[in-house]
Amino acid sequence: MKPLGSSLFPFALALLFSFFRATWAHTHENFLQCMTLRSENSSSISKLIYTPSNSSYSSVLQFSIQNPRFSTPATPKPLVIVTPSHVSHIQAAINCSQTHGLQIRVRSGGHDYEGLSYVSDVPFVLIDLIDFRSISVDAENGTAWVQAGATTGEVYYRIAEKSRSLGFPAGICTTLGVGGHFSGGGYGAMLRKYGLAADNIIDAQLVDVKGRILDRASMGEDLFWAIRGGGGASFGIILSWKIKLVHVPSTVTVFTVNRNLEQNATKLVHRWQYVSAKFHEDLFVRVTLTSVNSSQEGKRTIQASFDSLYLGGIDKLLPMMQESFPELGLMREDCIEMSWIESILYFAAFRSGESLEVLLNRTPPIRYHFKGKSDYVQEPIPELGLEGIWQRFSEKEGETGLIVMTPYGGRMNEISESATPFPHRAGNIYKVYYAVFWEEEETAASERYISWIRRLYGYMAPYVSKSPRAAYVNYRDLDIGTNGKGNTSYRRASIWGSKYFKTNFDRLVQVKTLVDPANIFQNEQSIPPFSSGWKKRGD
Ligand SMILES: Cc1cc2nc3c(=O)[nH]c(=O)nc-3n(C[C@H](O)[C@H](O)[C@H](O)COP(=O)(O)OP(=O)(O)OC[C@H]3O[C@@H](n4cnc5c(N)ncnc54)[C@H](O)[C@@H]3O)c2cc1C
Ligand SMILES: *[C@@H]1O[C@H](CO)[C@@H](O)[C@H](O)[C@H]1NC(C)=O
Ligand SMILES: *[C@@H]1O[C@H](CO)[C@@H](O)[C@H](O)[C@H]1NC(C)=O
Ligand SMILES: *[C@@H]1O[C@H](CO)[C@@H](O)[C@H](O)[C@H]1NC(C)=O
Ligand SMILES: *[C@@H]1O[C@H](CO)[C@@H](O)[C@H](O)[C@H]1NC(C)=O
Ligand SMILES: *[C@@H]1O[C@H](CO)[C@@H](O)[C@H](O)[C@H]1NC(C)=O
Ligand SMILES: *[C@@H]1O[C@H](CO)[C@@H](O)[C@H](O)[C@H]1NC(C)=O
Ligand SMILES: *[C@@H]1O[C@H](CO)[C@@H](O)[C@H](O)[C@H]1NC(C)=O
Repeated sequence: MKPLGSSLFPFALALLFSFFRATWAHTHENFLQCMTLRSENSSSISKLIYTPSNSSYSSVLQFSIQNPRFSTPATPKPLVIVTPSHVSHIQAAINCSQTHGLQIRVRSGGHDYEGLSYVSDVPFVLIDLIDFRSISVDAENGTAWVQAGATTGEVYYRIAEKSRSLGFPAGICTTLGVGGHFSGGGYGAMLRKYGLAADNIIDAQLVDVKGRILDRASMGEDLFWAIRGGGGASFGIILSWKIKLVHVPSTVTVFTVNRNLEQNATKLVHRWQYVSAKFHEDLFVRVTLTSVNSSQEGKRTIQASFDSLYLGGIDKLLPMMQESFPELGLMREDCIEMSWIESILYFAAFRSGESLEVLLNRTPPIRYHFKGKSDYVQEPIPELGLEGIWQRFSEKEGETGLIVMTPYGGRMNEISESATPFPHRAGNIYKVYYAVFWEEEETAASERYISWIRRLYGYMAPYVSKSPRAAYVNYRDLDIGTNGKGNTSYRRASIWGSKYFKTNFDRLVQVKTLVDPANIFQNEQSIPPFSSGWKKRGD
């Protein structure tokens, strides 16, 4: 640049900034006016709208951020947060965002692995459904209506309050928002018996891009199909789900058996791969792998933790385990009988004897920075392959690494790949979840841990599903591909889309084209519509 230009540059920049600031301030004001105009209860609406000048803006934003990686000073923040208490506020927010050229992000529980529910690098409005969370359980008919902002813990609690013989097969973590969680499938310890949360949804209410409130009958079966596993945020804003509750016995049995490398962990994990997807569907035994201190001073080892839910009593469980997996050496003393609702607390790692009310607590005890990824395994990994995993865990960053292997089979085998957008059914013996956690704030630390998990993922390639290398949309991972800015191409989106949805991706694109052709509901991994600007196979 010429000397003259460079001396003018800061001045020009400052001018540009103040211009933008004025423009945004103007947009804010117009947006707020628009909200007042379009909401039915305009008198109460200002209490539900936060801009950075409101003192509680920060705490409202922070409240549901589960991953501090997306809560740094550099993280882009919403221009406005709306916490609707009535559907008209949601309708107004959808209308006013479009009118003012702002992107929309919707948040229910805020557990998105990549923070997509509350971060965007274009100016955006956050619609936070924290106050949209009523639950009504109809125990007589075995159904419930659940608003999107309710958590899994609240759902389990409200069901148990009405009936101890009913339950619901959703996530193990009890602070997940059902808005995002059910939209992506949603699994827990009953998936081998009853499938996913999405497999047990019988109706839904959604606000579409035009602000219409639709239910199953008025949205039609294609859109109703798409929202049960196609991932949140592409098709509209889910208001509530009607779910079919499932039968749970009065007594269930849980156990956790830990084995380290000196206690045959390698052989046991190897063997587990052959039996866990073939157990009776009432029996769920998953494996969690971590790096732990060894009994030898200063050394570390791998711990394989086998934890289980059996939908029945100890007396039936023991002979079952003795027959199918005697190597584990399960003893009666390892097992605890309890009610199903108590098993929810057990799996969520609450202290034993904790009151059921903890299920109503939306704040997790600790929030670590984390990065997660997923895979599906179709052939058992040989012992040598497992030993390579142990090597990765012995690296420094591996000390806070985690792998959870969740068995499939049972009900998961009976549901066809195209019944819902979630395609990972028969043929998979288990799903792998990888995660790594850290406390350090610095970017350099994130980079080290993220690099570790990417190397582990790279190492796993020969052992997991291929063409496509499948992934679980609720374990969102932007490493596997992202949309381009603005209107992405089908080809680019199908890179990540085929991993999450296999051939169901095409039907999701068709539904998107019908319900949101202008791609108003978009993010880095939202389903794109076919657009006039590009052809299906081209860019
Ligand atoms: C600690 C932890 C434990 C987990 N455990 C499990 C588990 O046991 N089983 C499992 O299956 N998954 C699990 N997950 C993954 C979880 O299912 C997903 O992160 C899920 O998307 C969370 O939903 P949410 O509403 O809390 O998240 P959000 O971040 O609020 O939303 C996730 C996505 O859905 C969109 N969305 C949210 N609400 C709506 C709505 N009302 N309408 C339309 N779109 C919406 C968001 O915009 C975003 O794109 C876990 C995640 C974490 C962080
Ligand atoms: C409007 O607000 C009043 C009082 O705040 C409340 O009783 C009523 O249900 C609200 N109606 C709507 C449509 O939100
Ligand atoms: C935010 O501040 C504005 C202006 O002071 C006020 O009208 C509005 O009620 C505040 N919002 C909330 C949620 O308190
Ligand atoms: C917003 O609402 C107004 C009034 O109902 C309507 O005229 C306009 O078309 C709506 N805009 C959008 C983008 O939905
Ligand atoms: C159960 O469902 C039936 C049929 O849909 C309905 O008539 C009845 O009112 C429902 N029972 C309750 C308690 O809501
Ligand atoms: C490990 O397995 C061998 C047989 O393969 C067995 O003899 C031994 O007792 C096992 N060790 C433990 C700690 O279970
Ligand atoms: C593991 O060992 C290290 C040092 O050898 C020690 O600092 C740490 O506290 C130990 N961790 C646990 C959980 O015992
Ligand atoms: C994206 O495509 C839609 C539909 O063709 C069009 O209305 C919109 O203007 C496009 N947006 C951009 C940023 O190109």
